Amino acid sequence: MQPKTAIVIGAGDRGARAYAPYALEYPNELKIVAVAEPNKERRIKFKDTHGLPAKNCFSSWQDMMDRGKIADIAIICTLDRFHFQPTIKALELGYHVLLEKPMSPDPKECIEMARVAKKYNRQLTICHVLRYTEFWSTIKKVISDGKIGKVASLQLNENVEVMHMSHSFVRGNWNNKEKSSPMILQKSCHDMDIISYILDKKCERISSYGSLMHFKEENAPKDAPGRCLDGCPAELECPFHAGRYYLGEGRGWARKFTEDTTREGIIKALHETPYGRCVYQSDNNVVDHQVVNMEFEDGATAIFSMCGFTREQTRIVQIMGTKGEIRGNMEENSISIYDFLTKHETIIKFDNPVSGHGGGDNGIVRTFLREIDKVGETESVSSAAGSLRSHLMAFAAEKSRLNSGSSIELDDYYNSFIEK
Ligand SMILES: NC(=O)c1ccc[n+]([C@@H]2O[C@H](COP(=O)([O-])OP(=O)(O)OC[C@H]3O[C@@H](n4cnc5c(N)ncnc54)[C@H](O)[C@@H]3O)[C@@H](O)[C@H]2O)c1
Repeated sequence: MQPKTAIVIGAGDRGARAYAPYALEYPNELKIVAVAEPNKERRIKFKDTHGLPAKNCFSSWQDMMDRGKIADIAIICTLDRFHFQPTIKALELGYHVLLEKPMSPDPKECIEMARVAKKYNRQLTICHVLRYTEFWSTIKKVISDGKIGKVASLQLNENVEVMHMSHSFVRGNWNNKEKSSPMILQKSCHDMDIISYILDKKCERISSYGSLMHFKEENAPKDAPGRCLDGCPAELECPFHAGRYYLGEGRGWARKFTEDTTREGIIKALHETPYGRCVYQSDNNVVDHQVVNMEFEDGATAIFSMCGFTREQTRIVQIMGTKGEIRGNMEENSISIYDFLTKHETIIKFDNPVSGHGGGDNGIVRTFLREIDKVGETESVSSAAGSLRSHLMAFAAEKSRLNSGSSIELDDYYNSFIEK
């Protein structure tokens, strides 16, 4: 059987490192045939890695789309505000699309993308990679098999990890909701989605609180310059000093802002890119902590808490059913299932994942490649329609947060976009 062919739009961290490597590992299943990437260094690196002809390497997705349909699949990994247009165009041209989350920062665009995919009978899968991990798919099965009875309540903590918070959400690409999208959408849409997916019930109402508490100017050390390398007097007391961090334990993150990861290359980039900024004087405005309350159609409740001030990056979940309880920690990659009748605890420890996001990065590509042979017969594990439901939960949570935590009815919220 011939491998499926794909174009990649946006060969950044996700495009080049999360999904395209699948083609190198499984060349019998997937072949990348073209790339659109404005950053020349990234484009050339991607071209060489995948052995692409120069004529198939473009500096923008528009130039690539002008060539018409040149592959089976479009893998779209541009930044949040640049998902809508290439996705619509790719669907119109007849591509099946694997699109990074969030679908779009605009609820109307999310609804439109799902509509267009249906209209052209194309697969539009949203990269809610958690759905494809052993950790979450096992939890879903335990619930759907009835092992813990009827779920009454769920608690999920998203521990962002403090340096990850400073890197991605204070200095980095996702620090400003006008430039990318609110934290609850860009980061925690995974969480809204996984809650919705494993409970498999309609969320009826939602409310939320949260704010940007710490990473703002009033908390800057006295006389701190705008960039850490410009002689910050707090260098030794500040855990976020860019020079110490990116030349030390955070060196792995440097690939995010420079292709030259030598010491000199990193120092140069810290003088020139946003990653060298003082965390208290950035242009960030996304929250550093947020909680969301949810009520589902049968009365089940869920509480979600995202916090940037944690020592490790993980998700910790507790699901309380009428017959038993599930507890799990994603970083430990293990779950415990407790039965109230037998008082027996089953502990499942999963193998170390072979790809990012607990194995979800590879898992989504593998599943997608199989699903596109059956479009119209079965729904994708993470279809646009299913993802729309959880995206609306995230949009509604943000609306509530901005309205002092007022409760939002999700049906009314959805209809407010349909009626217009
Ligand atoms: N599924 C997940 O768990 C997960 C994790 C991290 C990020 N993301 C999402 O993935 C997306 C990409 O994030 P990233 O970390 O790879 O960012 P990135 O900045 O590393 O990559 C984005 C790339 O798009 C390129 N680009 C910009 N304009 C373009 C155009 N007109 N045509 C083609 N390419 C263009 C940029 O040059 C850049 O290389 C974001 O939407 C982000 O929210 C998802």
